[in-house]
Amino acid sequence: MPPNQQITELTLPLFDDFHLHLRAGNALKRTVSDASFWARRAIVMPNLQPPVDNFDLADNYRADIIKNIPAGRNFEALMTLYLSENIKTDTVKQAKERGIFAIKWYPKGATTNSEQGISSVQACYPIFAEMEKRGVPLLIHGEVTDTDIDIFEREAVFIDRVLIPLRRDFPALQITLEHITTARAVEYLLSIPEAEKTAATITPQHLLFNRNQLLVGGIKPHFYCLPILKCETDRKALLQAATSGNPRFFLGTDSAPHAQHKKENSCGCAGCYSAWNAPALYAQAFEEAGALDKLENFACKFGADFYDIATENYERVLKISREENTIPANLDYAEDKLIPLFAENKLNWQIKKN
Ligand code: NCD
Ligand code: ZN
Ligand code: ZN
Repeated sequence: MPPNQQITELTLPLFDDFHLHLRAGNALKRTVSDASFWARRAIVMPNLQPPVDNFDLADNYRADIIKNIPAGRNFEALMTLYLSENIKTDTVKQAKERGIFAIKWYPKGATTNSEQGISSVQACYPIFAEMEKRGVPLLIHGEVTDTDIDIFEREAVFIDRVLIPLRRDFPALQITLEHITTARAVEYLLSIPEAEKTAATITPQHLLFNRNQLLVGGIKPHFYCLPILKCETDRKALLQAATSGNPRFFLGTDSAPHAQHKKENSCGCAGCYSAWNAPALYAQAFEEAGALDKLENFACKFGADFYDIATENYERVLKISREENTIPANLDYAEDKLIPLFAENKLNWQIKKN
């Protein structure tokens, strides 16, 4: 591959997005259309209201998603269940045959729609044991919620206090630490034995931005997500990890739309909407690291291998072209407006399809 500056176009298979919020109802028109333009599969997060915590809700949700896939596109929604009080060991036993891909644990109060999450890790132990036995992956929003822990420390403290003991108690459980944001998380992922089934997803915002983007020169609510953007050292560590070719790190956008008025609010919601152009955002980050050649495995292979859903011979239909362009100021979102990540700013890359 030529040096990064000389690369004018990448022609890649459609991506797998292993962490995506599509929301529900009228929002699906926007979210499913945007994501299916560049993704062929996505793990769909279950933090709706009410949470997707039984098979019927998951089936209905999948059917709604499918109805919103534009004609001519292939898009597979990999459905998850939300770990609430309603999840029993019996649910885990049937999960695979009922078409459930994974179970998502939101510690209670950690993020958007996590009120029905479970606060005590001990209370989840019977569920985790069954998941380990049945090979059902556990996806984790890895932040503690203790009021005395600083918001910037919540991921690192989660790793030390919750994840490390959990790993020790369930050595064969498949775990994905979602949307990692810290050098500590990278260091942890690099420290574990090769055979261990732990991986991490990384978002475009955590590769491109640090907390200055959120807080310097005025508060910028559209850069507010959870876990919150961290400092430059953390961003650099994430960029290094994502572009290193280590298969433990793979793509999960965490694209999480909230209507404009819910973000521009005295108590604004957490979440960045990147589904509009995620491949271009990742290309921008990988270019900065001089590692455009590492994007394909990060976006199309490592996650699929980890979840054992790799397929051969998929077509290369996604073109990411070097073409300066400005991200739109807003997008239609049901009866509201949605501000895409990095709105009104310039990017070097643009996505197109063959
Ligand atoms: C997500 C959302 O809005 O659903 N928000 C976010 O800031 N990441 C929830 C989540 O993934 O934590
Ligand atoms: Zn989360
Ligand atoms: Zn998320």
